[in-house]
Amino acid sequence: MRTGYALVSLGTALMRIVSAHYILADSYIGQDFFNEWTWQTMDDPTHGRVNYVDQISAISSNLSYAAASKFVMRADYTNVVGPDDRGRNSVRIISKKAYQDCVVVLDLQHMPTGCTTWPAFWTLSQKGPWPNGGEIDIIEGVNLNTQNLASLHTTPGCITQQDRSQTGTTASTNCDSSVNYNQGCGVSFQTAASYGAPFNTMGGGFYVMSRSQSDGIQIWFWSRNDPHVPHVVRNESTPMIAPASSWGIPDATFPIGDTCDYESHFDAHQMIFDLTFCGDFAGNTYPSSGCGGTCQDLVDNQPEAFANAYWEVNSLRVYTPV
Ligand SMILES: *[C@@H]1O[C@H](CO)[C@@H](O)[C@H](O)[C@H]1NC(C)=O
Ligand SMILES: *[C@@H]1O[C@H](CO)[C@@H](O)[C@H](O)[C@H]1NC(C)=O
Repeated sequence: MRTGYALVSLGTALMRIVSAHYILADSYIGQDFFNEWTWQTMDDPTHGRVNYVDQISAISSNLSYAAASKFVMRADYTNVVGPDDRGRNSVRIISKKAYQDCVVVLDLQHMPTGCTTWPAFWTLSQKGPWPNGGEIDIIEGVNLNTQNLASLHTTPGCITQQDRSQTGTTASTNCDSSVNYNQGCGVSFQTAASYGAPFNTMGGGFYVMSRSQSDGIQIWFWSRNDPHVPHVVRNESTPMIAPASSWGIPDATFPIGDTCDYESHFDAHQMIFDLTFCGDFAGNTYPSSGCGGTCQDLVDNQPEAFANAYWEVNSLRVYTPV
C-alpha cells in the first residue's frame, strides 16, 4: 500500500510540474527601467554608508544609464564622501509592478564587487509592513564573497529542513526575521562563479527564481558559458516558460508545506536592486573579510575602489501563470 501511495503522489507531482506554464508578463530591457521602476531615496534601512539618489540625479551623474539592450546602475567612483554626508552616492530601484506566483529570469552581465560593497537583487511584499508578506533575497553577498547567498525573511512560523533537493548548502533554517538577528533562512551556492569577481570574469550569467503556491520557491544559477543554460532561459524572446526537471536540481530550494505555509507568509512582491556599503552585513563582517583598514574609511576616502561597484543588466523578464 505504501508503494501504491508513493506512486500516486509522484504522479500528482509530475502532473503539477507539467501543467505549470508561465507566459511573459513583463520584460525590462534598457530604458524600460527608467519608465517602470522607482528610484528610492530613503535612509538605508540596513544602516549602510550610502546616499541613495533620485532618478534625475542618477541620470545626470551617469549613476544610471540605459542603452538599447543594457541597463547600468552604479556607485559613484570619483568623489570623496565628507564626514557629514549621508554616504557614498548609489542607487536603489524598485519595480512599480508586483507579482504573486511567477518565474523571474535575470540575464546579468556584471554585479557590484569589492570591499565594503553589499549589493542585492531581491523581492519584497508590496503590502508589508516588513516582514509581513515576506522577502526573497535572490542575489546577495558582501565584500570579497564569491558564493551567492539566497535567503527568505518572514514572519514567525516558517522553517526549512536542513537537507533538501538543492545543490547549495543550507546556512540557516529559520526564516523568521525576529530570531537569529534577522539572519533568515539562507542557502550558500556551490555552483562556480555565482557571485563577485568570478561571476564578472565569466561575463555574468542567469538567475531564475520560481515561486508558486504548489511548488514553493526555487532559485537556479547558470554561469554565462555553462552549456546547460536552458535555451528558454538564455533566449530573451522566450514567450512561455515552465520550470522543468531538465533544468537540473536548483541551487536553492525552499519547500512549502507543514513547516512553512506559503499563503500566510508570501504575497505579491515588488523587485528591488540595491547597492549599499558597510552597514548591518558588509560592515559587521568587514573585520574578517580580508579587506584592509576600516569599512567607512574606504567608502569615504577611496572612490577609485568603487570602479567595479556596478550592476549591468541585459534583461529581466517576469512570467506569470497562464
Ligand atoms: C555612462 O555610463 C555608461 C555605462 O557604464 C558608459 O558606457 C558611458 O560611457 C558613460 N557616459 C559618460 C558620459 O560617462
Ligand atoms: C528565441 O525565441 C524566439 C521565440 O520563441 C524564436 O523565434 C527564436 O528563434 C529563438 N532564438 C534562438 C536563437 O533560439
